[in-house]
Amino acid sequence: MNDLLTPWQAHLSTVMEQRLALPQVPERLREAMHYTVFNGGKRIRPILVYLTAEALGKPAHHVDSIAAAIEMMHCYSLAHDDLPAMDDDDLRRGNPTVHIKFDEATAILAGDALQTLAFEQLVLDTGFTAAQKVTLVTQLAQAAGAAGMVAGQMIDMEGESREISAAELENMHRRKTGDLIAACLRMSACACAATDEQTQALEAFGYALGLAFQVQDDILDITGDQARIGKTAGSDITNNKTTFISAYGLEGATRHLQALFTSATEALTPLGQGAADLRRLAEFIVTRDH
Ligand code: IPE
Ligand code: IPE
Ligand code: MG
Ligand code: MG
Ligand code: MG
Repeated sequence: MNDLLTPWQAHLSTVMEQRLALPQVPERLREAMHYTVFNGGKRIRPILVYLTAEALGKPAHHVDSIAAAIEMMHCYSLAHDDLPAMDDDDLRRGNPTVHIKFDEATAILAGDALQTLAFEQLVLDTGFTAAQKVTLVTQLAQAAGAAGMVAGQMIDMEGESREISAAELENMHRRKTGDLIAACLRMSACACAATDEQTQALEAFGYALGLAFQVQDDILDITGDQARIGKTAGSDITNNKTTFISAYGLEGATRHLQALFTSATEALTPLGQGAADLRRLAEFIVTRDH
């Protein structure tokens, strides 16, 4: 699997280094932003962006800004997710979380700055038409915003103090993680001028995969080896979270994961052989141990 991931991870690192070299930003903020982005993430979302372009026959550089924007958004969300007011986690990717390494105010500001910088990536890219920029900015805002990822985080927080129903749980996972993962596929398809049929296939894949991703995240919270996952194991139990495990048990969650994987890969059928690497990435996501 590393032969699939490593070259893309290296490519993204180069892109991110360039885009985070911001001389006008105060040094401590710049360091915290860099730390937030460069402390060992798997880069699943940008790789989805690149593999979508690959499936549609477009070169990687055409979607660099989308890959960078989504990873900035993701890293901001983790810096805030780990804050004492939220999940209160000290460990992320095997390293101290941003507020432990720096301080709480700096972690909040680094997240804020990464979020706005994400939109700047899309707007300033001269390879997109004006119409594409409007669509891309709208799609990212909707996926990450109050009806998307932030909605999911809100439902997650509510789930600490009351029982949430199975429907709310599914909705929480879709919003919290699924929307941004689906946006990787949708935004890359938009930039690569995919047909409607291709876009629908990629979106269906993205939603099933996004949900599967979070189910596996919940599974790893209890079965994962802390040294591998790089986060505090059992954090969901400590925080009294409603998760796929608390709702369906480990076996039920595992069955659900398999069903999601099957529907994700079936959705890719219209893309044929071009989507071979997307299929491999989906396999990695549902079998990953970190
Ligand atoms: C973790 O995402 C948070 C969730 C949305 C479940 P990842 O597992 O993709 O985190 P990194 O970027 O690889 O650390
Ligand atoms: C975080 O979900 C999802 C977002 C940041 C939007 P989790 O709280 O389950 O992620 P981990 O387990 O801390 O990575
Ligand atoms: Mg959380
Ligand atoms: Mg968390
Ligand atoms: Mg988790």
